[in-house]
Amino acid sequence: MTGGDEEFETIIEPFRIHAVEPLVMATREQRAAAIREAGYNVFSLRAEDVLVDLLTDSGTGAMSRDQWAAIQHGDESYAGSPSWFTFERAVKDLFGFRHVIPTHQGRAAEKILFGVVGGSGLVVPSNTHFDTTRANVEASGAEAVDLVIAEGRDPASRHPFKGNVDVAALAALIAERGVAHVPLVMVTVTNNSGGGQPVSLENLRAVREVCDRAGVPLFLDACRFAENAWFIREREPGQSGRDVADIVREMASLADGMTMSAKKDPMCNIGGWLACNDDDLAREARNLLILTEGFPTYGGLAGRDLEAIAQGLTEAVSHDYLRYRIRSTAYLGEALDRSGVPVVLPIGGHAVYVDARALLPHIPPLEYPGQSLVVALYERGGIRSCEIGTVMFGRRPDGSEVPAAMDLVRLAIPRRTYTQSHVDYVIEVCQAVARDAAGLRGYRIVDEPRQLRHFTARFEPLA
Ligand code: F0G
Repeated sequence: MTGGDEEFETIIEPFRIHAVEPLVMATREQRAAAIREAGYNVFSLRAEDVLVDLLTDSGTGAMSRDQWAAIQHGDESYAGSPSWFTFERAVKDLFGFRHVIPTHQGRAAEKILFGVVGGSGLVVPSNTHFDTTRANVEASGAEAVDLVIAEGRDPASRHPFKGNVDVAALAALIAERGVAHVPLVMVTVTNNSGGGQPVSLENLRAVREVCDRAGVPLFLDACRFAENAWFIREREPGQSGRDVADIVREMASLADGMTMSAKKDPMCNIGGWLACNDDDLAREARNLLILTEGFPTYGGLAGRDLEAIAQGLTEAVSHDYLRYRIRSTAYLGEALDRSGVPVVLPIGGHAVYVDARALLPHIPPLEYPGQSLVVALYERGGIRSCEIGTVMFGRRPDGSEVPAAMDLVRLAIPRRTYTQSHVDYVIEVCQAVARDAAGLRGYRIVDEPRQLRHFTARFEPLA
């Protein structure tokens, strides 16, 4: 499939290793003690106690030789650094928005955006808000509403664009609440909380039309823009011959602005930005930026970070890289699917999502089947994954608790970091845990914060 020609099946990494990091091989007993001490929350583990870290693909990828070289060009001038202009040029080349506002990561861009346009009585629709996006919308007093198509909520549906927005529901919501109460529409590409599933160009155009009719701006949460564009190239009729960078430009041309985490597709360990065409919004956002992040030509970043992002953006849209990236994620997901582990299909771009509710039908959602699976994968094989389900989304702003739409466990793949043998090991561990699934127990939360509880909650296994 990928040796540059189509003759061979093996997914060869389009890079070789230049610097290595040791992994610590702990015993199962040591891991059981570590997770107990962590209150059964993998966010509280020490990273050295993890063998294969699939907690997130955010900021955990390997930078390239050329990115490390770019770092040496970092100019740390407070204002007007050449690194800022390099960064701004790279962002504008792909996305084309008039104003680019650098931030230390994606959620800072969200906080600034909703600090300007949010507020009580307002509603912000999306296909599916990511947790920090939802939290920032809600922190502003606004309501965050998810309007992904029905197939996007069905783990077994094979729809090619399960991240698509339900356009009729969007139009109905805007009509019901009134245009004055909808400051913008957000579309997450790819749809992380819904399984890393892409949004089609056709759907973006349809959302654009609804927004145009209502006079409501459209923003992309574009963290995984390159993976989304690759899926469009592979799956959308008429798109197969196109350059991915070109598809990215078309996606951006359909929007009025974007938020971005440079820790995802831009291949960096830190960074982000807010971009838009609206001069007034940009002015207000820059004022908030100076208050919370830094001067507008560096945001929360060092000049060297700006350089690494600019270089990373050119690598993110490489066809060789994206072919490997999407195929290698599918390799893991398809192996699990073949061995009967229920996974969200088709396999997403940056991660494989195991359907914990289907794997552990004996554990009700409010006893957190996803959390149970996360703990088991760690105890059994040292794999750190992430619950995306009732722990993450179950607590409503009014304090009540309801099951999330799905109870998923995400195996996120850091970019260019693990080899196929790491992935083969992950497959083996998942198969072993799935075989013994009937013996897994539910959990209860013994301590949780008011917001974003999954990061710091402490759990106890149920008897
Ligand atoms: N939007 C999406 C779709 C994301 O996946 C993330 C982060 C953010 C916004 C926020 O960006 O972390 O730079 O502040 N997702 C990470 C993850 C944390 O693990 O999926 P950030």
